[in-house]
Amino acid sequence: EPPKEPELPLFFGWFLLPEEEERIKCATMDFLKTLDTLEAFKEHISEFTGEAEKEVDLEQYFQSPLQLHCTTKFCDYGKAEGAKEYAELQAVKESLAKSYELSVTALIVTPRTFGARVSLTEAQVKLWPEEADKEGVAPALLPIVEALPVGSRAHVTLGCSAGVEAVQTGLDLLEILALQKEGKEGTQVEMDLGTLTYLSEGRWFLALREPINADTTFTSFSE
Ligand code: A2P
Repeated sequence: EPPKEPELPLFFGWFLLPEEEERIKCATMDFLKTLDTLEAFKEHISEFTGEAEKEVDLEQYFQSPLQLHCTTKFCDYGKAEGAKEYAELQAVKESLAKSYELSVTALIVTPRTFGARVSLTEAQVKLWPEEADKEGVAPALLPIVEALPVGSRAHVTLGCSAGVEAVQTGLDLLEILALQKEGKEGTQVEMDLGTLTYLSEGRWFLALREPINADTTFTSFSE
């Protein structure tokens, strides 16, 4: 009998330690609470509710995932392209169960997703698959995404609106980064946490004054 191939996970990523998860959830929820009270946000409320004048409670609007993490490679148990190659990388094998400190430098809010942008260190980029930034990106956006630094899609999904899948967070982040690159920034609001920018169609970007760091473990996940 040939030796059994090791099974591939649903995905690999950096998982926040439980106490870190609590801290990040609290800090980011506080931001949501403030955001939906801002006049600038209320002016664009219809992009979330479909109606002007209607209120939205962003804390209820987004459902948070079970375990906060930053996905490096979505393997889909081997069905995703490059899954096996990734799992076999020396850098990946060596890094399993190791500790990493992630740096969150921005938060994004759109009618679909709530996410934290992660700025990867050089060591962390070694675990970022080269093709990951481009996967599932609309053709019109590809040239801009290709011009962004590798790992620009790195993020933690903090919440999704009803019926939206987590994979959308990275796509929303890339759209926002592309709009910024084209200089298409709208209203800016100074907040305690940093500068909030509006980028049309219900997209908001908060550049944090101070990054939020979080201790994580690199590991694989299967349901
Ligand atoms: P994200 O990394 O943005 O949070 P699911 O629960 O939908 O099966 O996804 C499991 C994890 O893998 C989620 O964290 C999700 O998004 C990520 N993910 C799902 N599909 C993809 C994909 N096609 N490409 C990259 N990441 C994905």
